[in-house]
Amino acid sequence: MIQNPYKRILLKLSGEAFKGDRDYGIDPSFLTYVANELKQGFELGAQIGIVIGGGNIFRGISAAANGMDRVTADHSGMLATVMNALALRDALENVGVPTRVQTSIEMKEIAEPFILRRAMRHLSKGRIVIFAAGTGNPYFTTDTTAALRAAEIKADVIIKATKVDGVYDKDPMEHSDAKKFNHLSYMDVLKENIQVMDSTAISLSMDNKIPIVVLNLTESGNIKSLLNGNTIGSKIGD
Ligand code: GTP
Repeated sequence: MIQNPYKRILLKLSGEAFKGDRDYGIDPSFLTYVANELKQGFELGAQIGIVIGGGNIFRGISAAANGMDRVTADHSGMLATVMNALALRDALENVGVPTRVQTSIEMKEIAEPFILRRAMRHLSKGRIVIFAAGTGNPYFTTDTTAALRAAEIKADVIIKATKVDGVYDKDPMEHSDAKKFNHLSYMDVLKENIQVMDSTAISLSMDNKIPIVVLNLTESGNIKSLLNGNTIGSKIGD
């Protein structure tokens, strides 16, 4: 029998994905879909931490490029991740998965502050923990947040959920001859400047020896299949 090598996972969800078919905001049917995909992994006994982006609501880098102060823009982006986190928490609880949200910027009326030991306790009690508000600092992406929280909770893997089934040498949506990589080293990604996660996130994962699996979340059953020990998507590691 194949063994699940990943007992504790850190899932990185892009905020953009939350839009579903919309131009902006949150598509409730996508939330329900994601909640059910996660429920399948959760029912296999995996401990699950989640980091979500905020790009469906506010994209800090684009706002900064359009003249907004970068720090202000990043603060707004971090607030957008909290909206996504609250929406996902409710979707998960609606399908019966106990979930807690912790924020890196204190807003106690809305959610618990990020306290690592408390997050670990939630995970060990069988609750999904959503880490919201990025690292709490401007200039850091939610990919970097995912690598940081993964190291802190000692995750066995970072799962980067996307709309494509792995990492390609060029955009598979635009190039029919794009080649998929099954395995890449961290250095390959950094040296070739492959656009999977930003370089800070890749470096942090490399330094802490946390593998990254890039998979297609829109294909139902992929998370469950990965946690059942199957090879899914592309893996970045040593
Ligand atoms: P245990 O202590 O393991 O039972 O965890 P718990 O999260 O079930 O209990 P706790 O009493 O800490 O929290 C009860 C509920 O209140 C949970 O939904 C928490 O997420 C929420 N909660 C806890 N602390 C805060 C906070 O500072 N702010 C907000 N808004 N909610 C909180």
